[in-house]
Amino acid sequence: MKRAVYPGSFDPMTLGHLDIIRRAAPMFDELTVAVLNNTQKTPLFSVEERVNILEKATEDLPNVKVSSFSGLLIDYCRDNGFHIAVRGLRAITDFEYELQIAQANRQMSKDALDTIFLTTSLEYAYLSSTSVKEFASFNGDISKCVPDWEAELIYQKYGYR
Ligand code: PNS
Repeated sequence: MKRAVYPGSFDPMTLGHLDIIRRAAPMFDELTVAVLNNTQKTPLFSVEERVNILEKATEDLPNVKVSSFSGLLIDYCRDNGFHIAVRGLRAITDFEYELQIAQANRQMSKDALDTIFLTTSLEYAYLSSTSVKEFASFNGDISKCVPDWEAELIYQKYGYR
């Protein structure tokens, strides 16, 4: 069985993330989207909320599972039998950062974890969770960035609904 993990913060999930999930899912028998529980950051959405959002967004994709992890990705992958991580690349700036993490993870896992990259679809190349939060915090339009139902949840967090 070909399995892979798509790790990330997903705070919040964007249409760019969803694009990567939809394109990666058919490449594997099972794709697990793994939400990082980063205790050093104060997130907009709790891990449980992010998992719920991702589950709703992927409910039509039967081979996609949603989970969460804390600590190192290589430990989570070792404990759960993942050998492939999927990441999205938007630009050359992403590449430098992602290359370093991918190489570190491969080295530290003693070759147990490889990372494969999908290039983000061009219509989402400018999108980031950070910019979605920035726009939403000023009641800006995020309708092209996230599903409508998720936009409502984001605006609620900023007290606009
Ligand atoms: O969506 P993000 O924030 O770009 O995702 C980054 C993520 C979660 C993939 C990365 O930060 C990660 O794997 N964090 C877990 C801690 C870890 O394994 N760090 C080692 C990387 S050098």
